Amino acid sequence: MSDLILKHIEGGVLTLTFNRPDKKNALTRDMYTALSDALEQGASDEAVRVAVFQGAVDVFTAGNDLIDFLSSPPDASKGDDEPVFRFLHALQSFPKPVVAAVCGPAVGVGTTMLLHCDLVYAGDNAAFSMPFVNLGACPEAGSSLLLQNLIGYHRAAEKLMLGEAFYAEEALEMGLANRVLPPHEVNGYAQAQAAKLAAKPATSLRITKALMKQHHPTLPAVMMEEGKHFSDLIRGPAAKEAMSAIMEKRRPDFSKC
Ligand code: COA
Repeated sequence: MSDLILKHIEGGVLTLTFNRPDKKNALTRDMYTALSDALEQGASDEAVRVAVFQGAVDVFTAGNDLIDFLSSPPDASKGDDEPVFRFLHALQSFPKPVVAAVCGPAVGVGTTMLLHCDLVYAGDNAAFSMPFVNLGACPEAGSSLLLQNLIGYHRAAEKLMLGEAFYAEEALEMGLANRVLPPHEVNGYAQAQAAKLAAKPATSLRITKALMKQHHPTLPAVMMEEGKHFSDLIRGPAAKEAMSAIMEKRRPDFSKC
């Protein structure tokens, strides 16, 4: 387990902490691998009854590492041999309850992964965004399906096409978050909720989750299709322009893309 992802199991709760504060918890290929290892082991480990994702009090995650996007863009043809797709698959198929504690920015996969979590607690400083189009890419993690199911087509289109940040109260109203709390209370509250779940009958929880999730039978196919487009687009001219602009701290020019 990399020290950029902290793993802790106690009282039936597997806690995974994003721990790369100098880069706003941006997720590298190694971090996705560490998360996948933990989820895959946790799925079959009877000592794990619930999983919790958390970041720091001022940032959940800045999403995929942008240097990784440039140097080793994800390749959907590799399936689960590609770290980000392996992580998304492990999360989407995780059979036990997943709780997320979100403070500060939750960018890209930092927001879309929440669509796969069962309970989401947000700090009043949480800022969610899915700026895939602004990066010359497209939705991932099943968000093109799950987000419109959650909030309706037009609101989902606004979030996915404009890619602008939205904040904790809106996430609560949308149903993306269960509760908004002061940032310093979020991780503790999420742990307390996870402890409640860990004390419940595990099989009942597993079947409850499976029954609720079965209504998205096309989700794995949607995720694969998104992944293929994402892989192509992230190698394309708009993504190159978007990432160069970020590095050069200038506005991107998509007039030719
Ligand atoms: N990948 C790699 N490094 C990242 C990163 C990312 N996704 N997000 C932030 N960082 C790095 C910055 O380059 C900076 O590094 P430096 O100190 O070596 O220059 C450091 O983290 C701090 O980032 P900064 O932008 O100064 O912090 P902030 O508090 O002003 O803003 C964010 C935080 C998350 C809002 C902002 O960093 C951001 O928008 N990041 C890009 C997010 C993104 O586009 N992710 C991909 C989504 S698909």
